[in-house]
Amino acid sequence: MSNDEFPTDQPAVVTCGLPYANGDLHVGHLRTYVDGDALSRSLRRIGQQTAFVSGSDMHGTPVAVNAAEEGVEPREFALDFHETYAETFPQFNIEFDNYGHTDDETNVELTQEFVRSWVENDHVHEKEIEVAWDTEEDQPLPDRYVEGTCPYCGEQARGDECDEGCQRHLEPGEIEDPVSTLTGNPAEYRTREHKFLRLADFQEYLQGFLDRLEGTDNAQNQPREWIEGELQDLCITRDMDWGVDYPEDVDGGEDLVLYVWVDAPIEYVASTKQYSERVGDDEYDWEQVWKVDGEEHHGTEWDDDWTDDNGEIIHVIGRDIIQHHAVFWPVMLRGAGYNEPRSILATGFVGIDGKALSTSRNRAVWADEYLDAGFHPDLFRYYIATGAQIDTDVDFSWDRFQERVNGELVGNVGNFIYRSLLFAERNYDGTPDAAVSDDVRDRIESAIEDFETAVREYDVRELAEIAIELSNYGNEYIQRNEPWNLVDDDPDRAEQVIRDCVQLTKAVAVLMQPVLPGKAERLWGQLGEQGSVADVTLDSALEAPPAEFGEPAELFEQVEDDHIEALNEELQERVESEASTEASNGGGEAAGDDGDDDAETADLQPLVEDRISFEDFEGVDMRVGEIRSAEPVEGADKLLRLEVDIGHEVRQVVAGLRQLHDAEALPGTRVILLANMEKAELFGIESNGMVLAAGDEADLLTTHEDAPLGTRIK
Ligand code: 2FM
Ligand code: ZN
Repeated sequence: MSNDEFPTDQPAVVTCGLPYANGDLHVGHLRTYVDGDALSRSLRRIGQQTAFVSGSDMHGTPVAVNAAEEGVEPREFALDFHETYAETFPQFNIEFDNYGHTDDETNVELTQEFVRSWVENDHVHEKEIEVAWDTEEDQPLPDRYVEGTCPYCGEQARGDECDEGCQRHLEPGEIEDPVSTLTGNPAEYRTREHKFLRLADFQEYLQGFLDRLEGTDNAQNQPREWIEGELQDLCITRDMDWGVDYPEDVDGGEDLVLYVWVDAPIEYVASTKQYSERVGDDEYDWEQVWKVDGEEHHGTEWDDDWTDDNGEIIHVIGRDIIQHHAVFWPVMLRGAGYNEPRSILATGFVGIDGKALSTSRNRAVWADEYLDAGFHPDLFRYYIATGAQIDTDVDFSWDRFQERVNGELVGNVGNFIYRSLLFAERNYDGTPDAAVSDDVRDRIESAIEDFETAVREYDVRELAEIAIELSNYGNEYIQRNEPWNLVDDDPDRAEQVIRDCVQLTKAVAVLMQPVLPGKAERLWGQLGEQGSVADVTLDSALEAPPAEFGEPAELFEQVEDDHIEALNEELQERVESEASTEASNGGGEAAGDDGDDDAETADLQPLVEDRISFEDFEGVDMRVGEIRSAEPVEGADKLLRLEVDIGHEVRQVVAGLRQLHDAEALPGTRVILLANMEKAELFGIESNGMVLAAGDEADLLTTHEDAPLGTRIK
């Protein structure tokens, strides 16, 4: 859903999901920040006052567990990563107006204020619940200290999230077959008192909220299912030392800290507040964005009129944390008398070479690795922003990176700009003294309109492509008009053509700036422009560039084959060495996209002793098939919907291949289909057959020669 009102008279804030300060950043993390940064720059470009904020997520078990493994205190451990992140983001031209962290004073105070406000307004109650307990260590096992089976989808899950399966949040006590991650022992359940936010009171409010919500469809649609039926209250406290203390002045929570998902999103507000404090309320008023005025507007109701003068809140997050942002967070805000988000953009994941990114398998490209390879950050930004629609997964491979940079940036944009500016400088010392032709003016105007529409539709991919398309147009234009052949025979016409090309170049600089800010700045300088391209409005794309500028240099460098080969080798070696370490340790890893360790045995399974008869085997109808199409199943991280041609007919099959195979590469693959498998329904889609595959990596069974489709296996 789009927001036709941008630019509004009120300030906007774009926030990005907070990275846990618990490990190195990789390309998977960077996607959200690149998209958020490009969107906030684009909003400014169309005249929307915008603050761009985030911070490090310092608390909870994601930090405590990793810190303990390293034998470091959680605060010290998290601060170290926080500082690294704060330095790394700008190296990718991701420039927050404020980058705070959840353990700083502003956030701790604000978080406690939120809790007091919920308590005062009767949105919190206390309840005895069963929490997982490690009897050997004699301690409670909150969140990542326990693993087990998701009660909703049956996948392996962590204490508070079904990270491998349906992505749902799990409440303490919900996980089945709990096992302690401290000792590997089955966990016991013990009774403890905890505090709960009454989500059920906000059910109607949430339905309205989701109807109003803008952004990506997944953020609006997936939560609908989660808020059907009675809403479970959210446990907001944990038995831990590391975290924001439950406020001392509120009864009964003395030994408890707040659940990490309480203080984390509040950092969005705290970080905006810090920004306001730095630039002054006159320049940017955080309360205008976040707070709804007036006690009477406090409660479970909502009226759009209350926030006529409020700013716009836009969250950019990974698609694994939709429930926290589209269900829990609006309740947290509303329950404390705060404004609600205008939009949520939930980005897809980043895969590596057609498979899921997995830090535990070392199948990842690290932020530092990319920078050390010496590539300009804008190349990565471009690859990510244009790799797929924002809510769809993007696959990163060094080969594809090379292909896209060389083809699209060097071959198209760079080539057009260099040819135009060099010709202009050599023949006219800069911009020729002629008027821009009507056609070119119209073309630039329509690019500006498209850009504005893309921003209003939160369509990061489209807004990134507009400059590239304009440059395509420029390339065709210069090629068609051949100014080099006109200089002597028709000098006026040559001047006209080059004038147009220089104007197109300037427009490309203005339009590409949100995604390629460093390169746009450099081009701005080459055009002889003063100041920063970041500070100009879209209209300047139509204003004449300076009459004089110097000799240009190539804007983009070719990515060389040997460089890519070396990077590929390095990645492959890392993955192989990790796999052999695992094998020699007698273990394996379940596929995960976020790099956390999920041990699973990879030993050969014992042979089944029970024999089956030949008649039984004859009852198994396996056929040679060929995959015709493969597409992700919305809301299911592991599943693909396949169409498999088995000669007689084309079968729809839902298969758990999404994290293990590149969906785009699957069509055309010959497979073996168990054709008389019972039909099943997964995520609302009928699965009519089963594609056979070996092992955890789902090595697909196929035929050695070319038996016709539909041939029976015997
Ligand atoms: O899932 C995560 O990585 C969390 N650290 C995201 C927090 S986003 C926000 F709400 F604070
Ligand atoms: Zn699940």
